[in-house]
Amino acid sequence: MTQFLVGKRVLLGVTGSIAAYKSPEIIRRLREAGAEVRVAMTENAKRFITPLTLQAVSGNPLHEALFDARAEAAMGHIELARWADAVLIAPATADFMARLAHGLADDLLTTLCLATQAPVALAPAMNQGMWKHLLTQENLRALQQKQVCIIGPGNGSQACGDVGPGRMAEPEIILEQLSAVFATAALAGLKVLVTAGPTHEAIDPVRFLTNGSSGKMGYALAEAAREAGAAVTLISGPVSLPKPGHMDCMSVTTAQEMYDAVMRKIPDCDIFLSVAAVGDYRCKKVHEQKIHKNQDAMTLELVRNPDIVASVGQLSPRPFIVGFAAETEHVIEQAQAKRERKGMDMIVANQVGRGAGMGADENEVTVIGKSRIHLPSMPKGPLARQLIMMIAKEYHNQ
Ligand code: C5P
Repeated sequence: MTQFLVGKRVLLGVTGSIAAYKSPEIIRRLREAGAEVRVAMTENAKRFITPLTLQAVSGNPLHEALFDARAEAAMGHIELARWADAVLIAPATADFMARLAHGLADDLLTTLCLATQAPVALAPAMNQGMWKHLLTQENLRALQQKQVCIIGPGNGSQACGDVGPGRMAEPEIILEQLSAVFATAALAGLKVLVTAGPTHEAIDPVRFLTNGSSGKMGYALAEAAREAGAAVTLISGPVSLPKPGHMDCMSVTTAQEMYDAVMRKIPDCDIFLSVAAVGDYRCKKVHEQKIHKNQDAMTLELVRNPDIVASVGQLSPRPFIVGFAAETEHVIEQAQAKRERKGMDMIVANQVGRGAGMGADENEVTVIGKSRIHLPSMPKGPLARQLIMMIAKEYHNQ
């Protein structure tokens, strides 16, 4: 999943965190993926890892100081900022995040981040209390608003003995997400249709049957497909998210409306991403007036809605189909069976319930296509970018 790193020039910044012991591993993997690497480190980083180690592993001279006549003669800091196709700071400390968020440029690394035109990615690493602190979270939001890509952090046991969020993301994840930054042309020229959100099935004029889908995953995938160069149509059930730009957006309410809209658009699409949590049943009779509570119990008679993705799966010719399976138990088995039953090429399975998955900001999924890949819990934005890369790969290797 790192094919977009081939031939890229990556400037790795290392700051003073215990996670710096993983930086050589990141350099090794970047070079294995075909990238050229130059390293800049802060003074505090030298307390955790030697300049010689980073220089040897990267195969290039190390950059340490902003005002170093020898280094400036070889490759000045502005030249270095221009050289980079991407700047990756891993590990990035709370202090580094704060300084970058406030636009400081008092050392080599912060100066490089301000001077470069290339995308900047940060893999934060710090104690869980520091990560959760309001000031760090404010700095995080400020950086994200300025299009800085944040990778991780992971959750788990920390060097200080604490357990929680703040561990630097594993080198493998860092590489995949950095590669995704370059994956701008993975779906170029293709038409992608996405369904998202829940449906509402009316009971009477004021009540309806629905589910907990927020639409966040479908919207994130539509955005990621657009970023990857696709022409995107988004058919959305009722959600409270802003409409994404630069794509064709249609709003529907019921499963039947979603089915009709999908069937109209499907002949003109290459990839169908069925992310919507479509209501399986609707009321046989929708009451014209509000139902009053004059009985102790009441029964609603329900009838099946059409299965949209299964109907698309039966078409010939049909697009490349990716479905989703939110399950509360036997997740993989259920998803595998669903993929075969509904004629999908790939299915993205996740466990829901107890706050996980549906409606949440993060998701942990297993993708079942030609192979089976587990992706750890991460925000839906980065997850969508990674899924789009996997989908593009399987689509092109059909
Ligand atoms: O059977 P289940 O609802 O778990 O299957 C989930 C997958 O099927 C999702 O991709 C969802 O978008 C799709 N689906 C559909 N129409 C339905 C029910 C589910 O397209 N009526």
